[in-house]
Amino acid sequence: MKNVLITGAGRGIGFSLVKEFANNGYTVLATYRDAAAAKNLLAFSKDNPKVKTVTADVSDESSFADLKAAVQRLGHIHILINNAGVIGGKARNLQELNLDEMNKVFQVNTFGPIKVCKAVMPFVPKDGKVVQISSLMGSISDNGSGGYYDYRMSKTALNMFNMCLSMEFPDVTCLTLHPGWVQTDMGGAGATLPVDQCAKGLYKVITEATAAQSGDFLDYRGHQLGW
Ligand SMILES: NC(=O)c1ccc[n+]([C@@H]2O[C@H](COP(=O)([O-])OP(=O)(O)OC[C@H]3O[C@@H](n4cnc5c(N)ncnc54)[C@H](OP(=O)(O)O)[C@@H]3O)[C@@H](O)[C@H]2O)c1
Repeated sequence: MKNVLITGAGRGIGFSLVKEFANNGYTVLATYRDAAAAKNLLAFSKDNPKVKTVTADVSDESSFADLKAAVQRLGHIHILINNAGVIGGKARNLQELNLDEMNKVFQVNTFGPIKVCKAVMPFVPKDGKVVQISSLMGSISDNGSGGYYDYRMSKTALNMFNMCLSMEFPDVTCLTLHPGWVQTDMGGAGATLPVDQCAKGLYKVITEATAAQSGDFLDYRGHQLGW
């Protein structure tokens, strides 16, 4: 049976992905930071022995000890999903853009997946998959409204990281995925897509992806997106 690692799985899209993969028979290694925020994940894992949880802050490699030990115990991570992310300061214009805030957003959204990949790629087998949960807001060609400087730029850089990864690891399917505008804390009140519907879509796209799609930028329905 296959193993999947999902970061930032205590709530939101990450937690829905945990449920979707677990309900489809996968062994799931789920990371979280804060037990209170992750109470639904921790309750779900109690009832599901194939769901294992460890704490990890993706921006801080010194927090990876339990994660690394759990990955080593599993031996293989067939699917790695870099989901953890933050929206940041939502800077609307150049003068609002605060570089300290921007640095924090990059530490999570861009450097976090890189750090997790450095730790976990040695355990991803040749036919494995690596997924970056990115955003259409990281698309340069789709940016018709500006704003959100730090979030947009962090995801654009993440997209380029994934493309480089797909070149370095041609036997691994490396995907950049946009989950839709999803009803989570980050998605906010106006979001249109129920989180469980998003997770079902992402599950289908991820599990059905072929090696020929490595490097692609797709949404939760499998539609190709512009860079
Ligand atoms: N919702 C949307 O409409 C939307 C659209 C496009 C892309 N996305 C992307 O989808 C992913 C998940 O978003 P979401 O909507 O589920 O957001 P969310 O509800 O705000 O959840 C974010 C998750 O990331 C975790 N996280 C944040 N910083 C972390 C860190 N330093 N280390 C480890 N975990 C960390 C959070 O953990 P804590 O509980 O500990 O804070 C939480 O579990 C993100 O990458 C986001 O950019 C979302």
